[in-house]
Amino acid sequence: MTCSLFDPAHYQTVRKSLLQASTLPPVCYTSPRFFDREIERIFLRNWQFVGREEQLAAPGEYICHDGVGGSVIILRDADMGLRAYANSCRHRGSRLLDGDGRCRRIVCPYHGWSYRLDGRLVGTPGMQQAENFDPGDYPLIELPLDTWAGFIFIHYAGSPPPLAQYLGSMVDRFASHRGDEMRHVGSLEFDIDANWKLLAENALEAYHTGSVHRATLGQQDSRPVDTSGNWTALLVEDEQSVATLPGEDKSFPHIDGLDAEARAGACFTLVYPSTQLVFAQDCLWWLAFSPVMVDRTRLTLGACFPQSTIRLPGFEDRVKPYFERWRLATAEDNAICEVQQQGQRLAREPGRFAPGEFAVHAFSNWVLDQVLER
Ligand code: FES
Ligand SMILES: [Fe+2]
Repeated sequence: MTCSLFDPAHYQTVRKSLLQASTLPPVCYTSPRFFDREIERIFLRNWQFVGREEQLAAPGEYICHDGVGGSVIILRDADMGLRAYANSCRHRGSRLLDGDGRCRRIVCPYHGWSYRLDGRLVGTPGMQQAENFDPGDYPLIELPLDTWAGFIFIHYAGSPPPLAQYLGSMVDRFASHRGDEMRHVGSLEFDIDANWKLLAENALEAYHTGSVHRATLGQQDSRPVDTSGNWTALLVEDEQSVATLPGEDKSFPHIDGLDAEARAGACFTLVYPSTQLVFAQDCLWWLAFSPVMVDRTRLTLGACFPQSTIRLPGFEDRVKPYFERWRLATAEDNAICEVQQQGQRLAREPGRFAPGEFAVHAFSNWVLDQVLER
């Protein structure tokens, strides 16, 4: 399959309807060529989730997103606008910022060129004698940025479609959660020795819950959700919070004003390519899978709650079981995905989807839509 890795003929069985379909072949999770193609055709050509608006509350606050397309600075400018800049100096390309923080100007650590928050180059020490040099010609390179419900997305290409168009029916489906009024309360980070798609797929099926999470979450049942746009989802019907462990009696109240669809349970979505947004009845949380190498992925888990919940007495203590549930269940998921990655190396042939893996099937086919020859 080396010279025809992207020939649609090899993937016809994945294209069948769910109950007849094969899984993606193991090579899709182990081949550096397949991974490079995903960077080029998926991660450089689709919107990427990078954080929450309230993480950048004041002018000069920034976070760095180290995606496979290159490091990007997400920053709040002096007029409270959100900007995304390539994290690269216009002199000789040094990386400018790391992690997160707040700055009045962006100063390059190499030779000290400095940039205003609007990207303009304003400090160029020692350049007085350079000929035909106008600093105005060398602003930071700006990337497209858009937001929905408080979630910030960036794009590596020039003129992408608006984010709302990309998200399609997600925008109306979860309007009653009023995500833009929620606030981020904390994040967890994990490094996993598994391909990013294995993690995304694991997040898209409840088939594994009775075995992988038998000591924590227990068996969950799920059903499909109608979607249009670049996302898929499954619904776990439960009137109680699914963001705490079963039997935990300290869950927070449900979000005010949820519509009937939102009250039916927790919706585990995947915004393609690699961000799970979970719309639960008492909170929102996300899993952002960032590929590092073909068999290595960084995962950031973040959580948001309504401000009325955050103001409740004892919030700090009452939110601990939520993070405990996320820490435990995510560690179980990560471990099984590493085990699955190890098994891909000797496997040669695709397997078969279980009936409950409808959303994994949808995701696998979306991936093929992007990477195969047309
Ligand atoms: S590379 Fe940034 S000032 Fe030289
Ligand atoms: Fe899981």
